[in-house]
Amino acid sequence: MARVALVTGGTRGIGEAICVALQDAGYKVAANYGGNEEAAAKFTQATGIPAFKWDVGDMAACQPGVKQVEAALGPVEILVNNAGITRDGTLHKMSFEQWEAVIRTNLSSCFNMSRCVIESMRAAGFGRIVNIGSVNGQAGQYGQVNYASAKSGIHGFTKALALEGAAKGITVNAVAPGYIGTEMVRAVPEKVLAKIIATIPVGRLGEADEIARSVTFLVSDDAGFITGSTLSINGGQHMY
Ligand code: CAA
Repeated sequence: MARVALVTGGTRGIGEAICVALQDAGYKVAANYGGNEEAAAKFTQATGIPAFKWDVGDMAACQPGVKQVEAALGPVEILVNNAGITRDGTLHKMSFEQWEAVIRTNLSSCFNMSRCVIESMRAAGFGRIVNIGSVNGQAGQYGQVNYASAKSGIHGFTKALALEGAAKGITVNAVAPGYIGTEMVRAVPEKVLAKIIATIPVGRLGEADEIARSVTFLVSDDAGFITGSTLSINGGQHMY
């Protein structure tokens, strides 16, 4: 029986590539999305993967959201916490709303979603959780105290939950992408992005598929001895 995988923020960018890669690898996949109906409809039409809308930053929305996925596909055995937003700005110009929106969507979502699936994973004696971190959580980034804090928090969350899951067949790992050519990165002002690309030894932005392939490996049955680790995929920008 194909395992069931749920990818948050799964209808665009890196999340979309992860959904498609998992489907190609034979998993039953569900994508969660937060708000962009048009992109979600296009995604489902193109891939046949069902998309479910809820706010992963809101625990009260996650519980019925996960139940809906389970009713459609079965218990979630693989969770990819990918949903993330940016609200960039230097600290002296950043509002509390910019801070909180990013912490809530990028970090609290990992708690909310993992909490919703962990009991069934423990009961089944199997689970795979992959959290999408960032080079900017490892190295810091100008204009991103909110995002860097959330992503850095994801790396601590990953290690702590890995310890809790290890004896129950549940692995918990992080992937830390560098600058990938998604809408999120393309939104960085051109002049700033050019400076950033100049710091990437490989000399280019990464591709979403390059992240998706690593996630497919980490969730496979073959990767059962890999837990609490972070796979950095950043073209050599930061060696952590
Ligand atoms: N690297 C190098 N230089 C940078 C820089 C960076 N990351 N960010 C800003 N600078 C430079 C600017 O080029 C500018 O230099 P000059 O004075 O020589 O022109 C100087 O710092 C001041 O910057 P701004 O004029 O842009 O300042 P601002 O207040 O108008 O804007 C900002 C600040 C909104 C943070 C803007 O600089 C910005 O958007 N920076 C990019 C932040 C970033 O990297 N975000 C990543 C988004 S993608 C992502 O997060 C995905 C992931 O995981 C990797």
